[in-house]
Amino acid sequence: MTPPRVSVHRARRRFTALTVLALVSTFALPVLSASPAAAATPLRTLAAAKGKFIGFAAATSPLANEAAYRTIAQTEFNQITAENAMKWDATEPSDNSWNFSGADQIVNFAVANNQAVHGHTLVWHSQTPGWVQGLGATAMRTAMQDHITTLVGRYASNTALQSWDVVNEVFEENGSFRSSFWYNTLGQSFIADAFRYARAADPDAKLCINDYNVEGINAKSTAMYNLVQSLRAQNVPVDCVGFQGHLATQYGFPSDLQQNMARFAALGVQVRVTELDVRILTPRTSAKDTVQAQYYTNVVNACLAVTACAGITIWGFTDKYSWVPDTFPSEGFALPYDSSYAVKPAYTAINTALGGSPNNDTQAPTTPGTPTASGVTSSGVTLSWTASTDNVGVSGYDILRAPGTSGGSFTQVGTSTSATFSDTGLSANTSYRYQVRARDAAGNTSAASSAVTVTTTGGGTGDTQAPSTPGTPTASGVTSSGVTLSWTASTDNVGVSGYDILRAPGTSGGSFAQVGTSTTTSFSDTGLSASTSYRYQVRARDAAGNVSAASSAVTVTTTGGGTGGGCSVTAAVQTQWSGGYVIQPVTVTNTGTSAISSWTVTFTLPSGHALVGQWNGVITVSGGTGTAKNANYNGALAPGQSTTFGFQVSRPSSDNSTASGFTCATP
Ligand code: XIL
Repeated sequence: MTPPRVSVHRARRRFTALTVLALVSTFALPVLSASPAAAATPLRTLAAAKGKFIGFAAATSPLANEAAYRTIAQTEFNQITAENAMKWDATEPSDNSWNFSGADQIVNFAVANNQAVHGHTLVWHSQTPGWVQGLGATAMRTAMQDHITTLVGRYASNTALQSWDVVNEVFEENGSFRSSFWYNTLGQSFIADAFRYARAADPDAKLCINDYNVEGINAKSTAMYNLVQSLRAQNVPVDCVGFQGHLATQYGFPSDLQQNMARFAALGVQVRVTELDVRILTPRTSAKDTVQAQYYTNVVNACLAVTACAGITIWGFTDKYSWVPDTFPSEGFALPYDSSYAVKPAYTAINTALGGSPNNDTQAPTTPGTPTASGVTSSGVTLSWTASTDNVGVSGYDILRAPGTSGGSFTQVGTSTSATFSDTGLSANTSYRYQVRARDAAGNTSAASSAVTVTTTGGGTGDTQAPSTPGTPTASGVTSSGVTLSWTASTDNVGVSGYDILRAPGTSGGSFAQVGTSTTTSFSDTGLSASTSYRYQVRARDAAGNVSAASSAVTVTTTGGGTGGGCSVTAAVQTQWSGGYVIQPVTVTNTGTSAISSWTVTFTLPSGHALVGQWNGVITVSGGTGTAKNANYNGALAPGQSTTFGFQVSRPSSDNSTASGFTCATP
């Protein structure tokens, strides 16, 4: 049942399939009535309450063009995989010629909707351009490294991008290695190399091996098990195993799915279902819908039963956009929504298995406990209360406030997804009453709790809690006399009232002095000297006068003034651990008025620090000075244009210093 992967006549065949579907739905199957999709608790709410993700594979065209598709995508799912947009043929169709438009579209959608992204897929025998397939061994390995480094590196600092399929479908059904161009040219070493390149490019992402027909215990899944065990014994960074889950009702359910997941989990890896769909033989009937729904239930139950199962990605969600009719003749209808976006029994099954009561939940949450007040200041208070319970899970609380100690009326002043809330902006020496009520995701609300009365202080006393430390500032718009800084906001029990901006001269030494304040998370410094380095930190203040610790510093070097080509550089510590760290991104910007064709960044490496990995630049180290020159593809920068590179360093475990003193020069 090895599926043919890509059809040259895909568009035409999809049209044919949809035409048939339209006829079938209209004339043959009035029995399959469409259920309203509205009343159920969304899958993402239910899955999150179980500590799992529930995702879908996104097709870029409906994601851009169809409101109905987008609404379900953002309401029901908390994870996205690109169905095609991150594959090699889409991202690097010819050597070093990149197209990130579809990949960026999906990542941006996920960020906007608080969804995790699973990158799919780096090294695969399918949907990989001919120019790669024809390379000799050395060039093929280099092409693989470049591809992984650039694609993974692009999203490495984006917290939405949490995992990658590093290698896909490397086994035959009998458990031998697939005789792909990768294997035939490089032997099995390409697998370990791919994982190592991916780890260097994004040390935080979970790195997965992915395959189909490995859901049950069989020759293929056992070969995968043995490979994962042996790679991990060699410290190859394999974190996760993906079971695609392209199931078909005519072949029976792999009843040992849970047992299979559990044996992989015992190796110490995360497991996940990466491409779930359950196809049926056409025509669709309600009896087949019922069998299909049971398969979805079984997969959800298996994942819920195995702690290491992170979640489930469905390969699409609507029968309107599914690879099945294009790939498997006479099969289809594999997904939980029909082609008009109405839910099918499969949707109800998934929702129910995740703990929901789809379509009929009318039960309100229990009334929350009376709030208690703490951290009362002249302008704020923190409330906390005993949580409500609910049959489909509490989705959040409304916070209600009335003026004074009696009278007046309660109005909503905020919401919280936890059993605590901080109110700010209150007047000093003033009384307020607070109540809370709970909501479930089906929209039922509880009764309001009893009220607590709070009187703010006279000012200046009470709150002693400092805000959290702001993120390391990032620099942009560097000129010969100024720079704009921005940073991730601090949080505080009584609210952040502003930030102090601190500056020190040079790339090291000197001391930090305050040069300004900001009530937002950005600040523009001006009046700087040309061709000069400065370091900046920020710290947060709250209304009671508490001050956070200072952030880590960013180093900025102003440009030489309007004299043709010049460059600036900023560098960030992306992650660090006791024995090393990753500097990523190092951003080089052409600050001049004419194009540059090359750049050189120098920096200081503390003694005992050694370069262990690098990407998008060519770095040499001599006597504590690192010199990074552009790679052959990122030296040319138009005025104002930026590029990035990065590197990984090992250091003594007792040492927590990092590379510093970044300066940029052309050429
Ligand atoms: C499929 C897509 O769904 C189709 O649109 C495309 O034409 C071919 O690839 N295993 C995988 C997925 O890892 O990338 C495949 O996706 C389905 C099988």
